[in-house]
Amino acid sequence: MIKKCLFPVAGYGTRFLPATKAMPKEILPVLDKPLVQYGVEEAVEAGLKDICFVTGRGKRAIEDHFDVSYELEHQIEGTGKERMLDGIRNLISQCTFSYTRQINMRGLGDAILTGRTIVGDSPFAVVLADDLCFGETAGVLAQMVKLYNQFRCSIVAIEEVPHDQVSSYGVIDGEALSDRLIRVTDMVEKPSPEEAPSNLAIIGRYILTPDIFDIIENTEPGKNGEVQITDALLRQAKEGCVIAYKFEGRRFDCGSVSGFVDATNYCFEKYKAKG
Ligand code: G1P
Repeated sequence: MIKKCLFPVAGYGTRFLPATKAMPKEILPVLDKPLVQYGVEEAVEAGLKDICFVTGRGKRAIEDHFDVSYELEHQIEGTGKERMLDGIRNLISQCTFSYTRQINMRGLGDAILTGRTIVGDSPFAVVLADDLCFGETAGVLAQMVKLYNQFRCSIVAIEEVPHDQVSSYGVIDGEALSDRLIRVTDMVEKPSPEEAPSNLAIIGRYILTPDIFDIIENTEPGKNGEVQITDALLRQAKEGCVIAYKFEGRRFDCGSVSGFVDATNYCFEKYKAKG
């Protein structure tokens, strides 16, 4: 059973400056809800209720969001506004929240390794909250947990991206097992279009088996001088098995202004349809 979901949230969010100068990018709201809350909701829907954050300086708002705000709650007690906190209160009551800090920004691999003390020795999910995902019938993480129960190995979510965008992603290659499943044989972090083995990009949803920690420890810094989870996963794929999964649903890159606006429009359409 997978119970833990790790959220690496220490990054500076430089693609969204100046909005993220004093505010964590994960707190930027799509409609009336912070990005990170969508991610935690997706984890809970998949049955993952032990929420682990690898956080950093300037990210206190995330801890406060997943806690009680006594003054505010006292202020709106008994008014119609209390209802607006139902969702987050419900989430908080179902989950446990653990935090550890990444001291130096040395890449996603390093951030995940920093989470080892709170994740422990069991398989876990990783959510990059700025990739906002909406499943069709089930959330993307719920789809991946189901696959994990079948394959018992690390799983990465992928989607096809235009060739000229591959350099923003980890890109995979492999042997097709079915329409949506590929057994990974190659993986490159942020390749140029010429170097890219395909246009199948990893998006910010992973399920990782705990042997990944020792592998990351022995992974040299790669692209941009950072320890890359992509490089560690390639080793895992070569020594064992990693599955790439073309998920069902939509994903928005909310780390970019255009992706963020698209996500907002998509959610607003759904919001209007609900009435
Ligand atoms: C990270 C990963 C990359 C992945 C991407 C998904 O990159 O390193 O492999 O494709 O997330 O969003 P980042 O966007 O943090 O630079």
